[in-house]
Amino acid sequence: MVKIAPSLLAADFLHLEDQLRLTERAGADLLHLDIMDGHFVPNLSFGPFIVEQVNSVTELPLDVHLMISNPEKYIEKYLKAGADYLTVHGELIGTEPALLHEIRAGGARAGVSLNPDAKIGDYEPLFEQLDLFLVMSVYAGFGGQSFLPETMEKVRTAARWRREKGLKFEIAVDGGIDSESAILAREAGADILIAGTAFFGATDIDSLVADLRGEPR
Ligand code: DX5
Ligand code: ZN
Repeated sequence: MVKIAPSLLAADFLHLEDQLRLTERAGADLLHLDIMDGHFVPNLSFGPFIVEQVNSVTELPLDVHLMISNPEKYIEKYLKAGADYLTVHGELIGTEPALLHEIRAGGARAGVSLNPDAKIGDYEPLFEQLDLFLVMSVYAGFGGQSFLPETMEKVRTAARWRREKGLKFEIAVDGGIDSESAILAREAGADILIAGTAFFGATDIDSLVADLRGEPR
């Protein structure tokens, strides 16, 4: 069954603990945390302090998505803050796996993310080193954008490589996920669906989660 990872970026930050309880009650599998630095992406979000605070009040595994330049300077901080999955952008590391090894050595699962305009073929050697491939289905930087269906080609390619090479990484789709786009992501082969706006904006969260998982209501 596909895993659901609500993105905290779309939560009500004045009531963060309530929002975490709601996320747990809804049966989320992971909690997605978007770290933005105003440099690699134009937007700013939050840093390791918030990740640590969140970690102290929830049992949900933390899926930390670093949209920051010079990620090597911060890996240790996010590992310490409690990241269970830690993802860096391929556009920044190229095919150099050193950071992925550092993440794994620190006890977390290592992820790589690619923006919609990055070519998956340029990163093929990296897939042997991955625990998570995070496909951006919008351009990294903001919540609430529209899903780009053409990005599902990357999901299909990664799923094929995984099969052909006998690899084990998970595939996540991030951006613009709602009841409709979730169908496309699942059909393409996604294992994890990340949803911010649709999840925290839902009037009926149980129905939304059932829709995202493709279960009958
Ligand atoms: C975009 C972030 C996404 C975003 C998803 O830069 O990486 O995780 O929070 O939010 P929605 O579901 O609103 O597109
Ligand atoms: Zn994200």
